Amino acid sequence: MPDTTSFERAFSPDAFRAHGHALIDALADYIAAAARGNKMPVLPWVEPEQMLERWPQTFPAAPAQDLDHLLARVLDEANHLHHPNYMGHQVPGPLPMGALCDMVASILNNGMAVYEMGPHGVAMERAIIKWMGGLVGFGSACDGVITSGGSLGNLTALLAMRRVTQDRLDGKSPAVLVSDQAHYSVKRAVKVMGWGEDAAIAVPCDDAFRMRVEALPEAVKQAEARGRRVVCVVGSACTTPTGTYDPLARIADFCGAHELWFHVDAAHGGPAGLSGKYRHLLDGCARADSVVFDAHKMLLMPALVTGVIFRDGANSFCTFDDRASYLIDKSPQEEWYNPGHRTMECTKRMMCLKVYAALMCYGTKFFADYVTRQYDLAKTFARMVRDTSGFELAIEPDANIVCFRYAPAGVIALDDLNAAIRKHIVESGAFYIVQARLPKGHFLRVTLLNPLAGETHLASLLDCVRATGNELLAASRSHT
Ligand SMILES: Cc1ncc(COP(=O)(O)O)c(C=O)c1O
Repeated sequence: MPDTTSFERAFSPDAFRAHGHALIDALADYIAAAARGNKMPVLPWVEPEQMLERWPQTFPAAPAQDLDHLLARVLDEANHLHHPNYMGHQVPGPLPMGALCDMVASILNNGMAVYEMGPHGVAMERAIIKWMGGLVGFGSACDGVITSGGSLGNLTALLAMRRVTQDRLDGKSPAVLVSDQAHYSVKRAVKVMGWGEDAAIAVPCDDAFRMRVEALPEAVKQAEARGRRVVCVVGSACTTPTGTYDPLARIADFCGAHELWFHVDAAHGGPAGLSGKYRHLLDGCARADSVVFDAHKMLLMPALVTGVIFRDGANSFCTFDDRASYLIDKSPQEEWYNPGHRTMECTKRMMCLKVYAALMCYGTKFFADYVTRQYDLAKTFARMVRDTSGFELAIEPDANIVCFRYAPAGVIALDDLNAAIRKHIVESGAFYIVQARLPKGHFLRVTLLNPLAGETHLASLLDCVRATGNELLAASRSHT
């Protein structure tokens, strides 16, 4: 007979209370230490093979570890996103209140495929979708769904596009036009849809990495010559490598004139709609058919929470109209309140809770100020790079993503040098920065997400890049 006392212990409210209090204290100390930043590496680098040794790969039949101890190790060995020197991928050190909401969502585990499994979640999700739609300029007819990440969001939007445009093909194979700087998930979604390797046709960009709208007619012609019919153009707001906003209004004109679906990947840059100063970057987005908008990037939420919003909300139902007698048995429109009609996901986390709570408890101005501050800071950093000798800026930033590199006079192998600088800095734990391979070379890339980090951290980054670069150059000279 199984020992039921172990089940009772696992569900014991008293044990949960004790662990929970201890854990909140540990997390508060962790956030404070990470935010101070000076005594801990951003990423305590360990080689992957060594990491397997540190984390046993088999599980015991009987308890072998204490939860508090295990979680303390998880905190210690993480990439510390609240550290002011974390400036890497577009994943913020999230608002702590978002994490508290996630804990509530986890305890409740209200699944949200159907209304009955998370009734209040359905109301919160609807409010967020309408709010996001309003930010990109959609009217009251917009509607959509919250899903698990921008990549799945792009696929969800493009699946609806496929359904709506299927009678425009005249026997040809479909194609999508997207800039060569767009996030890889767009191309991957087109492949997943079974449209073939060459169905996502890359539109070239100008020197600022913006889609060249004047290249669209030629791209359509080339697709036709290959037996393909273009049914959709995807604009980026903004692109991942350089944070560049495509000229959305001009793309919208083109799509309008040629009866093409217009999808905007606003996973990173949708929240610019909150900022009076930067809202103009989304001009034209209001005419998109579908938009993807992540809250786990520029709304400071813990991952994942993504809105997929359709200008005409009816399009949100057109992909997933299956029936399942145990779950869904009416038409999607009749059952607008069952999110399972609009997403691949069945059991779906109550992702909306943290966004709803943040908007209610902090107000929209908090987020408007955040976007404006971070976009402003990127412009300040770009100026610092331009004004510091030995450095090169890739382009003037639109958003809070900046690409730059160390380019001291007389050094030719800049790509190798900057790749080595990044590796060295990341493994030392001093900063966490990433990279972008741009047509003009290998650049260091930062995304400025931390509202508590500023110019002093950026000045230290430039010092660190220079010192590391000079050390590497000196070492390579001494070897030759
Ligand atoms: C423009 C853009 N679209 C989509 C994605 C993918 O989003 P996720 O990581 O939430 O799947 C990213 C991620 O960085 C992005 O920058």
